[in-house]
Amino acid sequence: MSTKYDEIIGEIQSRLDDEQLKSGEKLPSIRKFAKEFNCSINTVLKAYSELEKAHLIYSVPKSGYFAVGSDMPKQQTQMKIDFVSAGPDKSRMPYRDYQHCMNQAIEIYKEEMFQYSHPLGLASLRQQLSAQAKDLQVFAPPDRIAVVSGSQQALDLLISLPFPNNKKEICVEQPTHFSYIDSITSRGLKPIGIEVNQNGIDLNNLEKVFRERSVKFFYTVSRFQNPTGCSYTNQEKKHIVELAQKYDVYIIEDDYMGDLDTRKKADPMFAYDPSGRVIYTKSFSKVLLPGLRLGLAVLPEALLKSFTQAKFAADVHTPVLTQGALEIYLSSGMFKAHIEKLRRQYKKKGTILKKAYLEHLPPGAAFTGGDSGFYSTVELPGRMKAKHLVEYLQKKNVLVQDATGMYLPEYRQENRIRLSVSQVDDRKIAVGVKKIGDGIRTLAK
Ligand SMILES: Cc1ncc(COP(=O)(O)O)c(C=O)c1O
Repeated sequence: MSTKYDEIIGEIQSRLDDEQLKSGEKLPSIRKFAKEFNCSINTVLKAYSELEKAHLIYSVPKSGYFAVGSDMPKQQTQMKIDFVSAGPDKSRMPYRDYQHCMNQAIEIYKEEMFQYSHPLGLASLRQQLSAQAKDLQVFAPPDRIAVVSGSQQALDLLISLPFPNNKKEICVEQPTHFSYIDSITSRGLKPIGIEVNQNGIDLNNLEKVFRERSVKFFYTVSRFQNPTGCSYTNQEKKHIVELAQKYDVYIIEDDYMGDLDTRKKADPMFAYDPSGRVIYTKSFSKVLLPGLRLGLAVLPEALLKSFTQAKFAADVHTPVLTQGALEIYLSSGMFKAHIEKLRRQYKKKGTILKKAYLEHLPPGAAFTGGDSGFYSTVELPGRMKAKHLVEYLQKKNVLVQDATGMYLPEYRQENRIRLSVSQVDDRKIAVGVKKIGDGIRTLAK
């Protein structure tokens, strides 16, 4: 449920977007808004102050609050409905709280700043991460946890490390996170694809590949997959782990958005084999700030030494200041409180998106995912190409992404678009999806 504070911010943002409030125009008085929204003056003041920090409005002493110029680039981009940007929702990120943590960290970790520290991260942060990971059913001691410069770094480093099974091939879902396709192919390797769709994964095919090929690891995004937005059931996850055990294949479980899962009983694959068969990675980019470049990996004992060497060779260690700030953010309880709010907000985004898909997509178009409000895909009807729809919608100020690059060449589908509603205002989601539906109808003629 959104609070009055959120509602006021949303209301002003949409008045600015729709140009009901133009550059230099005065905002409603605080007293008037408090009455209109049936809330305290303090709540309105807090909301206005947040909008001021975001440079959307400014205050003039004794006169009130005014809209910042609509000729500014920031304002122009807000006219668009952006389903491409996959960063977190800016209005919900705890930027100021983190700033306080950074300020504290620069004092607390002063000594550490004058020297190099451990490649796998600050011991005190690893302890906090170990404790916090338990909330996600990931039980791992601090010495198996590596702090990395974004989870992408751990995923990337693992490609080149020799694994205890001495196998060479890498298996990925199809479609998958395109940066990881780049990570693998840039090493001259050709990944094996496993199709996933709204019906899940073909476990017989996965078993065949595990049995017949020399698979080093299977890279999987077990919930809120990028780009499909699909999540495996517990039964599927258990089955995949059993297959990995049976055929001596490792699993790299990219749980980049595990924090946003509202299903209390949903386990990560790691929970089905915490011994090291499943290498678990988690990101702070979608739930905190991507610019921090913070993530973690839970490694098997057998890979600790080689991973430490590779991490040292890559960047010695992740910056102490951001690590220290994360430790303070976690230990103070701020993270927990933030995540609980965020989970509800993203769930709401997902619900709005799904409803909009059902209402506005024409027959012949299908969608996947949408549960977290982060990623989902739309399959276009007939032979319609995603790139044509992308171009058409751009002219209508709706930005969507062609998903073609998220497939390996042999699995390529050119009729899928990816949507993220993370940075789209809740009230704009249905408007944008309707424009997508109308666009599909127009191009199908
Ligand atoms: C599936 C998936 N895994 C990992 C990452 C990378 O996260 P990080 O910013 O922690 O490197 C992303 C980023 O979008 C992603 O979509």
